[in-house]
Amino acid sequence: MIYTNIIGTGSYVPEKMMTNDDLKQFVETNDEWIYSRTGIRERHMVTTEETIDLAEKASILAIEDAKIDVADIDLVIVATVTPDNHFPGVAQLLQSRLNLREVMTFDVNAACSGFLYVMNIADKMIKSGAYNTALIVGAETLTRLTDWRDRNTCVLFGDAAGAMVISKSEHNGIQDVICGSKGDVDDLLICKNVDIKDPLLNAVSQQDHIHMKGSEVFKFATRILPRTVKDLLVRNNIELEDLDYIVAHQANERIIKKAAKDLKFSMDKMFLNIGKYGNTSAASVPLAIDEALKTKYLKKGDKFITVAFGGGLTWGGALIQL
Ligand SMILES: CC(C)(COP(=O)(O)OP(=O)(O)OC[C@H]1O[C@@H](n2cnc3c(N)ncnc32)[C@H](O)[C@@H]1OP(=O)(O)O)[C@@H](O)C(=O)NCCC(=O)NCCS
Repeated sequence: MIYTNIIGTGSYVPEKMMTNDDLKQFVETNDEWIYSRTGIRERHMVTTEETIDLAEKASILAIEDAKIDVADIDLVIVATVTPDNHFPGVAQLLQSRLNLREVMTFDVNAACSGFLYVMNIADKMIKSGAYNTALIVGAETLTRLTDWRDRNTCVLFGDAAGAMVISKSEHNGIQDVICGSKGDVDDLLICKNVDIKDPLLNAVSQQDHIHMKGSEVFKFATRILPRTVKDLLVRNNIELEDLDYIVAHQANERIIKKAAKDLKFSMDKMFLNIGKYGNTSAASVPLAIDEALKTKYLKKGDKFITVAFGGGLTWGGALIQL
């Protein structure tokens, strides 16, 4: 039996920070509304940096943390809905920035669940015996897709990247990863591509922005989060009490609190950092795990579930033993 383990993590947020008060220059809003509805106080956003720049910085830190040679990496997968190009992908850009070997690299689009998707793929590819050491990344610049005139959405998102090196191991670290999706026929969360009406005219219309039916997404999130945790518990024949922590996608503190209440799991054991970063989509989970590890919130020997949900609609969860 081949096991996999997390051997290094890293994360990066751009320097520019925007507080709730700063948002008043774009939309009619206030700190009290944003904080009480979401738990967000501030978020970071790019100015000139692109998604690849954030991915590169987080990856360098994860590789240093893993204490490996870059030549050991034989697989790179990046989760992003904000790639810098149609092609090449962020994963190939990362390959050249990091001087990696000529290995397989690709991007995955599964919105805020993206990091669980890439963890699932890399975990299974290593467990198949075909690969040894994967660099997996969640990197997003959602503020570039945000409509800064729409107070329903522009207060929620931030930019970041998180990276992880996972490797073949004698320790059963990544014990299970599950993912699912369900076509979003009602356009609860959507950002359309550049709309080219007639390719022969070369007439490119403006880039679309994020559109969201907030209360419907809230209902989906509060239903799928506990369900994914329960599915992982049942599949692995363990009880909620066996978990030291849950590290959930940081979309909204109220979603996390409602899930904890429904699961009857203590909020003290639900990791929170949304206040500082907002919803950073596919970067949210690796950013949270990296911060939880670096601040010693998560320690060697801890068993935790990480869980995410997002556009698509998509979701995913992993059971991890440190
Ligand atoms: C977006 C969200 C915070 C809105 O909270 P809510 O309690 O549902 O608020 P509502 O949408 O009902 O809006 C209530 C009022 O606040 C107003 N409002 C919306 N955004 C506002 C803002 N930024 N500042 C001030 N008021 C705002 C609305 O216009 C509405 O006013 P009205 O009653 O006069 O029409 C919440 O629905 C949510 O978190 N949904 C999930 C979003 C998410 O996680 N998406 C990503 C998933 S990966």
